[in-house]
Amino acid sequence: MDLGHPILLDGDTCADQLFDDLQKRAAALVARGTIPKIVTILVGDDPASSAYVGRKHDTCARLGVASEDTRLPYAVDQDTLLGLIHSHNVDPAVDGILVQLPLPQHLDPVAISAAIDPRKDVDGLHPVNLGKLMMGTPDIMPCTPAGIVHLLRHYRIPLAGQRVAIVGRGMLVGRPLAMLLSLKGIDAQVSLLHQACDPIGDTLRSADIVISAAGQPDLIDASMIRAGACVVGVGISYDTAGKMVSDIADDVVRVAGAVTPRHGSVGALTRAKLMENLIQIASRRASISPKDAPQ
Ligand code: GUN
Repeated sequence: MDLGHPILLDGDTCADQLFDDLQKRAAALVARGTIPKIVTILVGDDPASSAYVGRKHDTCARLGVASEDTRLPYAVDQDTLLGLIHSHNVDPAVDGILVQLPLPQHLDPVAISAAIDPRKDVDGLHPVNLGKLMMGTPDIMPCTPAGIVHLLRHYRIPLAGQRVAIVGRGMLVGRPLAMLLSLKGIDAQVSLLHQACDPIGDTLRSADIVISAAGQPDLIDASMIRAGACVVGVGISYDTAGKMVSDIADDVVRVAGAVTPRHGSVGALTRAKLMENLIQIASRRASISPKDAPQ
């Protein structure tokens, strides 16, 4: 069935609007003597991760906030990384610390996320911040889930009582997004699907909103989508030629009522939410006395 053109959920334009506001908030902080500062740490030289981190620093430059880009060799040991995180935890000029994921196998991502001072957890991925989200009292929010909810709200996609199927239970997107969408006040009816749910088509076909963060090429096709449903593709993977492939197959546009573009739909919003977190943390630094500042 071809329903004509679906609404395009344009994350880039949506993020640009947020950037305009964030730029003003950053300038106001700078004028009061607080320069928001983020430190990123990238272990190894994976080209995709390197590109993501590079874009984060470009965004910092655009907003006029300070950023430090630390690159460590692939073989760096965990104690060295933990020591570096600690040095930023105690540096009063650093507001946000981000360790780019995924990490090499020999490093423990949970121990490393947990080593960041939760008050400087600009990613919202520290166990304390994920725990607050889980308990229904969110503080610093995970960036991609927050970006997705912003996108849906921007396009006035109803969420309360709606059946939302999330595909992928990863710690960066799927799992925290399920928590976020089921919060009181958002009130979506969430199904969290993963590799052990097979087939996924029946659940997806009854969903009002499908959000895929699986990283499996063309996992979701038109046969799995209810006519008029909203489809958000976050997961990407790379084919053997190195070309980026979405979780969402091309034919989905024939049935969806609203859909993200095949590439680059949520990345800018993730960065916007990262900057929102940074400015929120720096605002706290600006409004507290030095003796109460994060150590
Ligand atoms: N890798 C892919 N996305 C993210 C993100 O939002 N934060 C971190 N730390 N790593 C990532």
